[in-house]
Amino acid sequence: MVEILFAKSALPKDGVLVLPLAEDAPLREDAAALNERHDGALAKAIEAASFKGKAGQSLNLYHIGGYKRVLLLGTGKADAPRRAELLGAALATSLSQESEASLVTTGFSADEAAQIALGASLRAYRFDKYRTTEKEEAKPKLKKLKLLCAAPKEAEAAWSSAKALANGVDFARDLVSEPANILYPAEFAERLEGLKKLGLKIEVYGQKELEKLGFGTMLAVSQGSVREPRMVVMQWLGASGGDEKKAKKPKEPLVFVGKGVTFDTGGISLKPAAGMEDMKWDMAGAGAVSGLMAALAGRKAKVDAIGLVGLVENMPSGSATRPGDVVKSYAGKTVEILNTDAEGRLVLADVLYYAQERFAPKFMVNLATLTGAIIVGLGHEYAGLFSNSDELVEKLVASGEIVGEKLWRMPLAKEGEAYDKELDSAIADVKNIGGGRAGGSITAAQFLQRFVNNTPWAHLDIAGMAWATKDAGVNPKGATAFGVRLLDHFARGFEA
Ligand code: BES
Ligand code: MN
Ligand code: ZN
Repeated sequence: MVEILFAKSALPKDGVLVLPLAEDAPLREDAAALNERHDGALAKAIEAASFKGKAGQSLNLYHIGGYKRVLLLGTGKADAPRRAELLGAALATSLSQESEASLVTTGFSADEAAQIALGASLRAYRFDKYRTTEKEEAKPKLKKLKLLCAAPKEAEAAWSSAKALANGVDFARDLVSEPANILYPAEFAERLEGLKKLGLKIEVYGQKELEKLGFGTMLAVSQGSVREPRMVVMQWLGASGGDEKKAKKPKEPLVFVGKGVTFDTGGISLKPAAGMEDMKWDMAGAGAVSGLMAALAGRKAKVDAIGLVGLVENMPSGSATRPGDVVKSYAGKTVEILNTDAEGRLVLADVLYYAQERFAPKFMVNLATLTGAIIVGLGHEYAGLFSNSDELVEKLVASGEIVGEKLWRMPLAKEGEAYDKELDSAIADVKNIGGGRAGGSITAAQFLQRFVNNTPWAHLDIAGMAWATKDAGVNPKGATAFGVRLLDHFARGFEA
């Protein structure tokens, strides 16, 4: 990660200097002084290049006033949402070939200075562990970023919590980016054990334990694979306990559940070959829950939060589940599996029910790359949000707007109503797909709801958001870790 330093506002004498400029605003003090010392060079360049300070707009001046490079970055309107973190992101992109730079943060608060740092480090992420032949000049170089602030101590304190969040996001991105030959359930679980060092309590359940518990629907997904399944329970008791040693039993914790299908071939209901490689990121829900727990622990959040992930590989083989098979879920309900590619809901059914039974959550949020249909409906702008609680919806949507991970509420019917009735099976308590393709994301959510008691619950279908094919905002293309920043912000609303 880019090293971030905070220092008193005095301008450096040389190097690379970044000056943020709001839309149609006059040059700020530092920039104005520099401009005057150099015969109005800045103002002339701004004029000549029609630089308006629009968000994302940039203007470079080389070898001026002792600086190797002065970069003017537009920050848009003074009240533009997320302008600080987006400035950081723009800076990281523009300066990827510089090794060090200083940024003047006049006009930004200490918190915003930390947000600039957050945006810069998030955007500078790169998953390059498997590149062994890349040329030096092609690699990004930004190592050190100095933020010049009026109150550097305050900014640094804000950054220490934002940095924990950035670490959580990057942890999730690493998990999501890994190919499925490297990251299978046991390996995923092992990486989560590494989070113990942050004070998280980690429990891992293997094949035997899951059999004993009676996780029939989750095991039905896993049984075609030579990779053993895992369920991992991560506990952060920041309100009632502190760290692992002091941890008591959580009281009304916030519970987060993630779908962790480390590869989804579809099973016997095999997916078509084209694009199947994308299914390595069918564990992005579990990745986000893991990154969130790392962030909460890393910044010592004053909440009790539990993360649970169901980790399986969905493969076709002689031992795989067949369409038509009937299995018994942990909840006791029998499920007729008509399509083995509708596997995420089978994993979640058991983990959701277990989470409710064991932890009596204040509420429960699950994240899953659950349906292709949500991409048809919402594209790559919004994740689908399904919930039985208006209050939860309101809070989640608001957090999403603030961090730029947007949610759109979708319909969810009560049990026995039309959407739900589609799941009635001729031979078991419920079947795992609806009648046809219509409303596929909704029937998937209805299936999950059949395993939710009276707990306030929200399901985020993140299939369209987990992976980006273009750079955008604070995310370079690839794994976005969608949900980590959203739920970290959301959890802040419950901190003591
Ligand atoms: N993992 C997929 C959903 C998915 C599709 C995620 C594309 C990301 C990108 C899920 O397990 C799945 O296969 N869903 C099926 C459900 C269907 C069989 C009812 C789908 O969406 O086609
Ligand atoms: Mn599937
Ligand atoms: Zn899947």
